[in-house]
Amino acid sequence: MREPKPKWRDVPVELRKQVEEIMGSSIRTATQVFGGYGPSATFRIFLEDGRTLFAKGAGLGSVPENWRVLPTEETVYREVAAISSICPRYFGSVKVEGWHLLLLEDLKNTKKVPPWTEELALQAIRDIASFHARGHSDNGKVKSMEKSGFADNWLNIKNRSDERNAFLGLFRERRDEAEAWLDANMNSLVQFEAGLLRPDQPWGFIHSDIRSDNLRFRGGTTVLFDWALACSGPFMFDVGFFFPSIEGEGGPRAERLLPEYKRVMASHGIEFPAFSERSVAVAAAGYFATRAGKPPIPQLPRLRSIQRLQLGPALRWTSNLLGLPQPPLINFNEMVSLR
Ligand SMILES: Nc1ncnc2c1ncn2[C@@H]1O[C@H](COP(=O)(O)OP(=O)(O)O)[C@@H](O)[C@H]1O
Ligand SMILES: [Mg+2]
Repeated sequence: MREPKPKWRDVPVELRKQVEEIMGSSIRTATQVFGGYGPSATFRIFLEDGRTLFAKGAGLGSVPENWRVLPTEETVYREVAAISSICPRYFGSVKVEGWHLLLLEDLKNTKKVPPWTEELALQAIRDIASFHARGHSDNGKVKSMEKSGFADNWLNIKNRSDERNAFLGLFRERRDEAEAWLDANMNSLVQFEAGLLRPDQPWGFIHSDIRSDNLRFRGGTTVLFDWALACSGPFMFDVGFFFPSIEGEGGPRAERLLPEYKRVMASHGIEFPAFSERSVAVAAAGYFATRAGKPPIPQLPRLRSIQRLQLGPALRWTSNLLGLPQPPLINFNEMVSLR
C-alpha cells in the first residue's frame, strides 16, 4: 500500500520554471518517488542536460504536518553547518502558492538498507557520532525537543485505559502475560522515561528521525536526509530511537552498536551518564507502545507496521538494560512492507 503523494502533473508551470532557473537547465520529465511513511511531495527530476535532481516538500495532497515541518528542514539545509558532511547537497528552494520544494542532490546511485550488515550499522553509528560531535554547539537554530509525546508515554498507559488496551491488544493471545509484565514494571518504566530530557546529559543538534528510510550509504559513509524534525535534544535520543529499527530490520542489536557510539563520542570528549541510555531505551519502547496498537491513519498506511517492527526490539533492549524479565513477543499477523 502506498501513500497518496502529490503528483508531478499537478506542479504549476511557475514552480517548474523556478527549478529550471536554479539548476540552469530545462526539465525533461519528472517522476514521483516513494519511500518514507507520509504523503510529502517527493520527485525525481530529469534535466535536459542529463543531470537528475531530487525535490522534496509539500504540495497538492500533502497533510498539514508536511507543511508544519518543512520550514525547519529548509532552515537546517540552509544554516546548520554541522550537517554538511552527512547530508545530500542542497541547491535551493522553490515556492508558489500551495507548493514548496527543496532541491537536493539525487541519491539514486547510493546504497540502501535493509539488508543491514554489522559493518554498515557500525558505520552509520560512527558517522552519526561524528556529526553529533560537530553539532555540539550548533543547536540555537532549531527548537528544543518537547517533553510531551516522548517522555510521558508509559505514564499515559498507566493513567488511561484506552492507551493500556491499545498496547496490550498487540499481544493477542499472550495479553495476560503482557499485562502481568506491564503491571510488575510500570513504575520503573514511568520513572526512567521521565529522565529522557534531563539536562544533565550531552545535548546538541539532533536529527531525531533516524531510520533506514532516511539514510543511504555513499562511498562507504552515511548520508542522512529528511531533516524535518531536527531539533535541539539529547544526543542519545538519535541513536536510542534508531537501534530498535535496525534490529527489527534484521541488523545488529543496540548492545553491539551503543558501545561504538560511546567510544566515538568519548574520543571527542563527550561522556554519557548511566541514566541516559536507560531513559532513551524506555522512552523509545513507550513511544512505540502507545502508537503501534492504534488504528491505522489513512494517509500513512504503513506507519503502524513500522511502529510494531520497532516496538519488539525496544521492549527487548529495555528489559535487558533494566534487568527485567522479557515481555512476550508481539505477533506479526501482517507482512511488514518497508518500502
Ligand atoms: N536526496 C534524495 N535522493 C534520492 N531519494 C531520496 C532523497 N531524499 C529522499 N529520498 C527518498 O524519498 C523518500 C521520502 O523522502 P524524505 O525526505 O524522507 O521525506 P518524508 O518526510 O516523506 O519521509 C525517502 O525515504 C527516500 O526513499
Ligand atoms: Mg523520511
